[in-house]
Amino acid sequence: MSDSRAWLDQVYCEDALAGLARIPDGAVDLILTDPPYNLGKDYGNASDQQTVEEYLRWTEEWIAAALPKLKPNGSLYIFLTWRFSPEIFVMLKRRMTMMNEIIWDRRVPSMGGSVRSYSSVHDTIGFFVKRKDYYFDLDAVRIAYDAATKKARSRSIFVGAKWLEIGYNPKDLWSVSRLHKEHPERADHPTQKPLEIIERMVKASCPPDGVVLDLFMGSGTTALAAKRCGRRFVGFELNQDYCDIIHARLAALDAAPAGAGAKAGAKPPAKRAPAKRAGTAAVKKAAAKPGAKKPKPETVTL
Ligand SMILES: C[S@@+](CC[C@H](N)C(=O)[O-])C[C@H]1O[C@@H](n2cnc3c(N)ncnc32)[C@H](O)[C@@H]1O
Repeated sequence: MSDSRAWLDQVYCEDALAGLARIPDGAVDLILTDPPYNLGKDYGNASDQQTVEEYLRWTEEWIAAALPKLKPNGSLYIFLTWRFSPEIFVMLKRRMTMMNEIIWDRRVPSMGGSVRSYSSVHDTIGFFVKRKDYYFDLDAVRIAYDAATKKARSRSIFVGAKWLEIGYNPKDLWSVSRLHKEHPERADHPTQKPLEIIERMVKASCPPDGVVLDLFMGSGTTALAAKRCGRRFVGFELNQDYCDIIHARLAALDAAPAGAGAKAGAKPPAKRAPAKRAGTAAVKKAAAKPGAKKPKPETVTL
């Protein structure tokens, strides 16, 4: 008899549209996904190099296939570029309620750039829910006030103010540096997202032990974030080299000393030639391969 939960904590090296059939409807708490932006990047496949019509048609298709996987009180976060977010937000607003447009300010330093328009330094993130009673834990993602702010609010009228102690709402403008080449978290993927951002979404919008689905895993940031935060994950990635990176990042987390899980590192040991593995690969199974080298864990400070 097949295990109906065998898909949990797996990243399948296959097309998300085909792979979604593995996941039962209504089984996922959070869809957190970062699809190709269609800006011409080379992911070793043509997913980022489609005509506008093809890209929008394909986006409609995967959204229609993915949304039934969500629980009724589930949420969806989608990373986009401003070039296509208007069209894609409209697609999603036909099916869900839009709660926020979050701007990720990548903190790109000023270095000349465009002379006929303003330099683009942000990604657009849509936060959508299915129903009013959606899961959302703001307290899990509040940001502590710094000492100077706390001191400035030390007058008697603020004494005992709960908001001062519990920290503030992260708001909808997130200034978090992109992962430059030397960043300790950086893996060999051109559009890897920072764990800090993904973990905020996971903690706020997926209950402990809940399930996060990412259709486009890339270097596996969503899987890693889910695991570090005590959530389950499932997802897909077309490119075998990136699947190998995901495997290495998850294995590094497994190899971290007991108790260091929450801080355990993100980066595979070194940029290396991709392993020769054929066919569909479930990352966890690969990680369990006898004799497989465990990469050295690194520490990431968030
Ligand atoms: C923007 S990147 C994701 C980056 C990821 N968030 C990270 O932090 O590393 C999109 C990824 O989707 C993958 N992809 C494109 N089409 C796909 C498909 N049909 N099924 C699964 N993965 C796909 C690409 O190979 C690429 O690695």
